[in-house]
Formats: sequence, C-alpha cells, structure tokens
Amino acid sequence: MSQFAYTNGILHAEGNSLEALAQSIRTPFYCYSTAALTHNFQAFENALCQRNSLVCFAVKANPNLAVINTLSSLGAGADVVSEGELRRALAGGVPADKIVFSGVGKTREELRYALDKRILQINVESLSELKLLSEIACENGVEADIAVRVNPDVDAVTHEKITTGRQENKFGIDISAAESIYEYASSLPGICPTAVAMHIGSQLVDLAPFRTAFKRLRELVTALGGAGHQIRRIDLGGGLGVSYNGESYDVPGPELYAQVVNEVLGDIDCTLMFEPGRVISGSAGVLVTKVIYVKKGEGRNFVIVDAAMNDLIRPALYDAQHDIQPVRLPPADACTQLYDIVGPVCETGDTFARQIAMPDIIEGDYLVFNAAGAYGASMSSTYNSRCLVPEILVRGKEFSIVRKRPSYEEMFSLEQFADWQE
Ligand code: LLP
Repeated sequence: MSQFAYTNGILHAEGNSLEALAQSIRTPFYCYSTAALTHNFQAFENALCQRNSLVCFAVKANPNLAVINTLSSLGAGADVVSEGELRRALAGGVPADKIVFSGVGKTREELRYALDKRILQINVESLSELKLLSEIACENGVEADIAVRVNPDVDAVTHEKITTGRQENKFGIDISAAESIYEYASSLPGICPTAVAMHIGSQLVDLAPFRTAFKRLRELVTALGGAGHQIRRIDLGGGLGVSYNGESYDVPGPELYAQVVNEVLGDIDCTLMFEPGRVISGSAGVLVTKVIYVKKGEGRNFVIVDAAMNDLIRPALYDAQHDIQPVRLPPADACTQLYDIVGPVCETGDTFARQIAMPDIIEGDYLVFNAAGAYGASMSSTYNSRCLVPEILVRGKEFSIVRKRPSYEEMFSLEQFADWQE
C-alpha cells in the first residue's frame, strides 16, 4: 500500500495532509515517508534474508541525514562515492564496518579518510587506484580490505546515461583482466583482496542483464578460488528499477530480483552485498509544487508550477516521466484537458510533462511529482539562483523539516567580491 494516498479527497503523506503541509511550509518541497522507507528497505532485505547478506543503501539516491538515519536504524549499511557521502553515512549513524566506498575517481585524501575510518571495503576501479591505496595503507600502517569492481560487459538495457557495465563505460576493471589484477593485488603490501564487486547500471526493469552479469561474476569467483584467493564477499551493486508512470510492463520488485540472485549465486559460500538506492527511497518521496499560472497557448495549455528543473532534473536529463497527481482530488465530473507541466526556469528543457491528460487545473492548485525520493533532492541545484527546497520527513501524524529552505543570504554566503572590487 502506498503511504501517499487520498483521505477525504486530499492527498496525504501517512497521516499528514499535503495541502496543510504546503500551506504551512510553502512549496516546493520534498516530502518523505518513514513508513515507505521502512517498507522498501525491509522488503529488499527480507527478499534476500535466507542468506548472509548486507544491504548498503546507495547514499547518492537520497543523502539527507534523516533519511540515512531512518535506514541505518533498520540495520542498513551505506554505499558511498565521495568523502562527503562517507561523512554523511557516519553522521547518519551507519557503522563504519557497514560502509563500502565505490567510484572511479577517489582521491588520495578520500582514500586516506576512508582508511582512517576503518570502513568495511573499498571498491577499487583501476590499477592506478590500487597502487595508490597500497601506498597510503602502508604509510598509515593499515591493511585495506578491497573488492575489485569488475566490468562484466553487459548491456543493462536502460537509459544510456545510467548504464555502467559495458566495456565502453568508464567503470570497473575489465572482467577478463580480473584474475591477473587479483594476483597483483595479493602481492601488494597493505592490500587485502577479499571481495569482488560489480554494478551494471540503474533503473533496470529487465532482470536478464542481472542474470548474465551474476553468472560472469560467479565464474570469476570460482576461478579466483581455484587460484587460491579467498573471496569472502560478493558485492552485486544496485540498479533495480522502480515504476514512475504506470508503465505498460511489469517492473520487477525485490522478490523477483532475489530469485535471480539465488538462482545464480544461492549456493556460493560468501556474504552477498547489495547497493540499492532508487528501489529504497524512490517511491518513498514526492515533490510538492504549486501552480503559479495556467497559460493557454495556441493548441497548448501550459501549467507553470513553482518547482523547476533545478529541483528535479530527471525529466530534463533522462526524459524521465514522473507521475503527476493533484493534491486535492477533483470532482468526479471534472473535465479533462491536455496540459504541458513546466517550471519557471528559462530553458525549454524545464518541462516535467508534455500533453498529459489531467482534470482541470487552476492557479493555486497543488500538485505532486511521485517517486521523487531518489535522485530528486540529491541532484538539485540553485540554477537560476533559486534556493534549494526544503525536505520534510513524516512519520504517522508527525512531520519534521529535515532540511530547511536556505535564505538568500545563506545562498550568497560563500561568495564575495574580488579584492579589487568595492
Ligand atoms: N552502486 C553504484 C556503484 C552506483 O553507481 C549506483 C548508482 C548505485 C549503487 C545505486 O543504483 P540504484 O539502485 O539507485 O539504481 N541519477 C540517475 C541515477 C544514477 C545512478 C548512479 N549510480 C537517475 O536519476 O536516474
């Protein structure tokens, strides 16, 4: 059951009327549901619970400290890709021994910080990174537990900007070179190659690419075992997709995904790690916006809302179509019209939906963009000098502002005139 549902004709987030929240907080804002985060995390974990596993939430999907804390209190680990995310994970209550650090371009400082914090695992993505890590580990007198992130050369069949597991993508080390890399890694001081990792892309709605990639990984782990390497953990990355807009196909959920995992890797004697982001926080959040103007053009009705591409960039960047709903349910006999839902930013790309049929919309109405809890706030910017929008977390009838709207002064606060200016 969705935690965003109508009660007495008004869309609620758990026990909170989004209309009342919109009136008191001012739009736009993101609203996340504790119950939905909990449900999504537990559904993923339960699907895989028959075996020794660790679910590390991909912090990039939603790095809000209150969201991380909600998940860490359920036992989630964290997948991070920068020192900032690592600091957030720790601040959000994730124990260091449940944190995995991925990414193609970790700097010396970031690696040093990660080693200093004694995190569970660093997923190495190149030979140069491996050598640098060995150097830093030796300097600091510690051993780095690593996975080599391999690139299994599998097409994830998703948007080209978020596919990561093909040879031409920058990610990981070619799977064909993996055995020799492990050989080399074992010979390096300060390096403990204990795991294998992969991540082939995001928003996968077909499980076949996962199956192919898992099989390639299994072959590798078997070969590594044969060569005397002790692989204790297999990190299968994230990538499971969610439904955005009543897709005509079935979007597979954690249970079907887990079936594929078990089918291919069920009997392997390793801890399985997962790095889901979108499937945990995506459906747990909405972006609430207000209609500023309705502009009737030649053959086009534009609904201009107060949220824009800087607040939710996914439609502009990936042609994503987030389902849009009115906060106040229209009367059953309301007329339906075709609308283009657009933001105020000065780019045609600032369009959330084109020619969608919706019941009559009038100025002042509140609308929500659904499934905005992943890669929404986390990818927002202040483009057009628009302030970042607040984030609200609800729990039952309670709500809390978990990121406040900055003032304009705060937005300018890191800038100053050059020394030679007045
Ligand atoms: N692990 C690694 C190494 C990743 O690079 C990612 C996502 C994840 C896990 C989590 O993937 P998920 O379970 O959320 O699919 N901004 C894009 C998505 C970019 C994903 C990047 N990496 C979007 O809004 O669709």
